[in-house]
Amino acid sequence: MGLSRRSLLAAGGLALLGLPACAVAGDEPADDGSGKVEVFSWWAGPGEKEGLEALVADFRQRNPGIEFGNAAVAGGAGTIARTVLATRLENDDPPDSYQAHAGLELASDIEAGYVEDVRYLYDQQRWRDRLPKGLVEALTFDGRIYSVPVNIHRANLLWYNPAVLEAQRLTPAETWPQFLTQAAALRRRGVLPLSIGPAWTQKHLLECVLLGELGADGYTGLWTGATDWAGAPARQALTRFIEVLAQSDAADAAADDWQPALDKVVAGTAAYNVMGDWADAYLRTRGLVFQEGYSVVPTPGSDGVYDFLSDSFTLPAGAPHRRAAEQWLIECGSVSGQDAFNPQKGSVPARLDADKSRYTGYLAQAIAEWTDSATRVVGSLTHGVVAGTVRSSAIDAALTLFVQDGDTVKFAAAAAG
Ligand code: GAL
Repeated sequence: MGLSRRSLLAAGGLALLGLPACAVAGDEPADDGSGKVEVFSWWAGPGEKEGLEALVADFRQRNPGIEFGNAAVAGGAGTIARTVLATRLENDDPPDSYQAHAGLELASDIEAGYVEDVRYLYDQQRWRDRLPKGLVEALTFDGRIYSVPVNIHRANLLWYNPAVLEAQRLTPAETWPQFLTQAAALRRRGVLPLSIGPAWTQKHLLECVLLGELGADGYTGLWTGATDWAGAPARQALTRFIEVLAQSDAADAAADDWQPALDKVVAGTAAYNVMGDWADAYLRTRGLVFQEGYSVVPTPGSDGVYDFLSDSFTLPAGAPHRRAAEQWLIECGSVSGQDAFNPQKGSVPARLDADKSRYTGYLAQAIAEWTDSATRVVGSLTHGVVAGTVRSSAIDAALTLFVQDGDTVKFAAAAAG
């Protein structure tokens, strides 16, 4: 019977076979030595590919002998890429490294034995001392670490076009009820209050409304069990989400992805868009200048809170070019890699010892807030931090119905997991 390396890892196999754990390193899967690395991500669209290109350029410079294979699959938040990746992993055809997020999202891949423990790289590169403690905790499963973070993104952001708000004599909404009052006025004047995109952007909006309505503790409690989904505060927050969504173009003209949703704000046909700070990178690719062509505030009710996520790369079990994959991970975790990537990607470095002077415009503000000890940090639902894939998929399915029927009891029951 041929036991794949993956199934061995899944079963904690080496210990079962009576082999010492260090045999993993000695028993590395065949590396064809061809000096290639195939990296799988969803950074193919405008505002994302530029970041990847900058990281790859730095990688090439430091690893001239390794050919970079870009296996990016387009589509915001990896919705399409994840399906393609799942098939590859099931078929024992892993790339050399794939994009994931810090947090519970990776738990199912770890359980399936798809990814390797890379603590030896953390030791070698001394990453534990160079990353925020909370981030290392989010990356740790049963004492092991299975991915390397390249950045920190913020999800809870409300983007707007300053000229449009000025023309309407509005200042950015600070609470969701205030947003709803503004929305009524905007509608009367023929401006769409909020642009939106595909289903994942609605989930992203949902997490921001829950955060704004329940506060950092109440929101976090939804994932730890401390906040009752069926209780009055959570149900009221869900009702608020339905009210907010009704002020968007979800029902009739939702954009195909997050970039065209932002385009409506740029064009002035929509007042606001809720999106993570990859929006900053995209808006710059459109030639816009922060605080002139676009600006941003925390989503209503979330001032002082950083709803974080972190893109992190894995070492799949059975990676065809393992040694090159290790070099890629070292690149992702390095100061030079992060300082090449993040200014282009609209994110701040995961490393604490990066060169802050490289982060200007929106990013100067972001890095100051991320590193301010007074900032409250919570984890993103939509981007993998606080829920595993099973719970997250259950929420996706329930959300599709919820946006149609507005049944908070039913949605709360499904989301409670
Ligand atoms: C997130 C990812 C970000 C950005 C975004 C939109 O899941 O972490 O880096 O790419 O999707 O595609």
